Amino acid sequence: MPPKVFVSRIIPDAGLDLVKAACDADIWPETMPPAYEVLTERVRGVEGILCNLNDRIDGALMDAAGPQLKVISQMAVGYDNIDVRAAHERGIPVGNTPGVLTDATADLAFALLLASARRIVESVEYIRAGQWRTWEPKALLGGDLNGATLGLIGLGRIGQAVARRASGFDMRVIAYSPRGKPEEAAKQGVTLVSLEQLLRESDYVSIHVPLNESTRGMIGREALAMMKPSAILINTARGPIVDQKALFEAVRDGVIGGAGLDVTDPEPIPLDDPILTLPNITVVPHIGSASQRTRDKMARMAAENLLAGVEGQPLPNQVRV
Ligand code: DGY
Repeated sequence: MPPKVFVSRIIPDAGLDLVKAACDADIWPETMPPAYEVLTERVRGVEGILCNLNDRIDGALMDAAGPQLKVISQMAVGYDNIDVRAAHERGIPVGNTPGVLTDATADLAFALLLASARRIVESVEYIRAGQWRTWEPKALLGGDLNGATLGLIGLGRIGQAVARRASGFDMRVIAYSPRGKPEEAAKQGVTLVSLEQLLRESDYVSIHVPLNESTRGMIGREALAMMKPSAILINTARGPIVDQKALFEAVRDGVIGGAGLDVTDPEPIPLDDPILTLPNITVVPHIGSASQRTRDKMARMAAENLLAGVEGQPLPNQVRV
């Protein structure tokens, strides 16, 4: 009998075909994720769950699934939606998809950085509003990247990939990475500094840490007040790392220069969120990993973790507790 699994969204065929070929798969067919109560019902009796960052996977859900549950496989590198400790206590390995989305996410961070610095979205709106009447010496002036300081909060895979891109733009790169080794960072042209120094010296600050209890709300009113009035904050990590109300007020009041966000709190961002009214905050809908090739790789990796788990094998990519 093929193992019963639940797949919480239609993922790219590169992964879905592998799951369908090896499992008795219940695949959630809708664009909107199943509500927690529905998810809890659907996972009863399955041996594996392939989930996404929108699905809350906690101990109660694992218990509802039953003692035969052998694996939880997340199609994302971040896994703050999963209670990994609860899974560990129940002997259920959790898989994720590190590495394959590093470049796509770093590209998006850089796209937001450039778009924010050079006011690309505002410029498009300017044309659409019929304001482009002539070449204006003082219109739509932005910031330079060349010679500017980029501060990376977090110097893991994605932070390092952003640093590589920044070196091509002749930026000075500093990073806050409490567990990072200064000599390793230096080989990549990055200087490790304290968070305070990073916030005070950077022209652009880009966030590349996971969401956990020590990073939740890390960039709040106090941190924003340390930044330069011209500084731009980029967040492609997780929305709750930034206090969004404090960010709105800081940009509105000129405490900082602007922001580029791929992630918000909550997601999706409500249409009446005041953040969306500010021309110098660019928001995109969590598309960091959204390239065809990257999503194919993520789907395949998530499927491989799932299949290994239901067969009782070590997962190719297992989250460490
Ligand atoms: C991840 O993998 O955690 C990303 O946020 C998905 O794009």
